[in-house]
Amino acid sequence: MTLFSVQSVGVSYGGVHALSDVTLQVEEGQLVGLIGPNGAGKTTFVDAVSGLVNARGRVELDGQDLTPLPPHARARRGLARTFQSSELFEDLTVAENLQVTAERPPWWTALGETFGRRTPPASAVSDSLAALGLHDLADSSAHELSQGQRKLVGVARALAARPRLICLDEPAAGLDTTESSELGLRLRAVADAGTALLLIDHDMGLVMGICDHVVVLEFGKVIASGPPAQVRNDPAVITAYLGASAVQPSSTPETS
Ligand SMILES: Nc1ncnc2c1ncn2[C@@H]1O[C@H](COP(=O)(O)OP(=O)(O)OP(=O)(O)O)[C@@H](O)[C@H]1O
Ligand SMILES: [Mg+2]
Repeated sequence: MTLFSVQSVGVSYGGVHALSDVTLQVEEGQLVGLIGPNGAGKTTFVDAVSGLVNARGRVELDGQDLTPLPPHARARRGLARTFQSSELFEDLTVAENLQVTAERPPWWTALGETFGRRTPPASAVSDSLAALGLHDLADSSAHELSQGQRKLVGVARALAARPRLICLDEPAAGLDTTESSELGLRLRAVADAGTALLLIDHDMGLVMGICDHVVVLEFGKVIASGPPAQVRNDPAVITAYLGASAVQPSSTPETS
């Protein structure tokens, strides 16, 4: 069944069409990749569906129309996201980082405080840590973590709100190959356990290795969409990345 349906979404910044007529769907438990060169509109897409920028088109989650709703209401209906440059609270433990509303802009936190704080229950924090393999690190301080562990905490934090779908904006940025494959295994497991994921990343090995379906953006438009094996060999995709090596699963992080 279709969980997340985005129809003809468009965003313009002044006269610049950052996103034009983008349509995509995520089925229940699916892991969908959203890739494209720098500036293709990937972050703008997540901003649009989460309600942070004004957008044309329609966004539905679980059959509910999210289009008229502000960001916090979309989140409450089950749409979560991580930010491209997300940070942890260094002085807090891993578990405490999941308990605070850290992934949110200040106005969002202010809203939460106005309407009563919505901290996730202890069971959600614990389940979420387990899902990302972080249970043993629950009481470690964030500043003791490796880069790979930090990224896992970022995903765990989004998962602790028990969303239906999480949009992940470059969770593997800055990770080495080993850390990236560990993250990949965990993300695959999260999707298999029933939380759908939309994964934005420049690590083609990661995206092509774990996604069920991949959508490619270039200049704000969808240029290809399909299973990884098909998208990887699509001439338009190869051209967009200026060379076949960039879309081969064997590519190293240095080439992305
Ligand atoms: N607030 C803004 N105001 C004006 N233009 C913007 C704004 N945010 C993004 N853009 C432009 O919109 C286009 C899409 O940017 P976006 O950040 O969505 O790309 P991206 O695919 O996420 O890139 P990257 O891989 O570098 O993160 C770019 O041309 C960018 O310069
Ligand atoms: Mg981006």
